[in-house]
Amino acid sequence: MDSYEIAVIPGDGIGVEVVDAALPVVEAAAADAGFEIGTTRFDWGTERYLDRGEMMPDDGIDRLRGFDSVFLGAVGHPEVPDHVTLHGLLLPIRKGLDQYVCKRPNVLFEGIESPLRGYGPGDVDFVVYRENTEGEYASVGGREHRGFDHETAVQSALFTRRGTERIARAAFEAATEREGHLTSITKSNAQAHSMVFWDDVVAEVSEEFPSVDVERLLVDAAAMDLIRRPHEFDVVVASNLFGDILTDIGAQITGSMGLAPSGNVHPGDANPSMFEPVHGSAPDIVGDGVANPLATVLSWSMLFDDLGETAAADALWTAVTDQLADESAPRTPDIGGSAGTGNVAADLRSRL
Ligand code: NAI
Ligand code: MG
Repeated sequence: MDSYEIAVIPGDGIGVEVVDAALPVVEAAAADAGFEIGTTRFDWGTERYLDRGEMMPDDGIDRLRGFDSVFLGAVGHPEVPDHVTLHGLLLPIRKGLDQYVCKRPNVLFEGIESPLRGYGPGDVDFVVYRENTEGEYASVGGREHRGFDHETAVQSALFTRRGTERIARAAFEAATEREGHLTSITKSNAQAHSMVFWDDVVAEVSEEFPSVDVERLLVDAAAMDLIRRPHEFDVVVASNLFGDILTDIGAQITGSMGLAPSGNVHPGDANPSMFEPVHGSAPDIVGDGVANPLATVLSWSMLFDDLGETAAADALWTAVTDQLADESAPRTPDIGGSAGTGNVAADLRSRL
């Protein structure tokens, strides 16, 4: 029997709740498909930070390297600044394991009401390919003259040819397997260096993919159009910052943060990829037992797909879509129900 070793980092807040609820469902799907997953749990996150001053150990990245995949819940804590938690765990893993594709599907499922009038099941179905290792989130800059009137902060964005080409190529490849439509998001009217460079690289890479039609949109227009005409998007490619922001719009127009899955993918075998729900640690609902576990289950579906275990991936995805389409099924308050995390997970398991 095939078996995979998965590093599980539940993290903070509802990250722990959704990871724990989803795990039995995920293990059952694996068993049905004839493989096993071995999970190793890491207590990395803010509790550890408050205790020992570090989000994860110094050799954290190296300890993850040997795994087939990594699963993360969420990080973030009201008592610790977000840049500490983000730079102490999430960003170092994405960069350290060279997970350069942040893949975020946005699907409006049957049974979910979009806040957009007139949009029904399947009307929104696009995937964002967000650059995940450089761009605006590069750690380039500094803060000088602290406390003086002339205090200064510099934050530079980093766009390399290699980094831009590889995210563009991954997005074009995805477009050839989908509807053949790719939208590249920039702000090249205002950011005439980095974003015009991005446009040039996308134009070059597009020559390798003549069957894909390319649309270019400025990020402000994209923010508008994702609300005005989301049905026209298929594959969206964007820088680290723009992709981050636009995927929150994507999550909202498809119903809830509690439904949005994601993968931080290192294409190739050199490093494991990491999968996680898009949402954060949700301190406003932590401990209430109402966190929606579906984004987590869908993220596991993406993880299985990435491992080539398509039967288990499809089984999880289908269990979620069946549950959402079933009016009598339990659902959490974020999508209009009154059920708890555990009930939703148990119902999912019974659908496998
Ligand atoms: P959030 O995603 O944690 O919550 C936003 C809103 O969505 C809240 O009202 C929350 O209750 C709701 N929500 C999120 N996930 C849900 C789920 N599974 N079921 C039901 N409702 C859900 O974002 P927020 O509040 O901006 O950030 C909270 C903390 O999480 C911060 O410390 C932030 O830095 C961190 N964060 C971490 C992320 C990560 O680990 N990848 C991503 C986003 C935020
Ligand atoms: Mg975000």
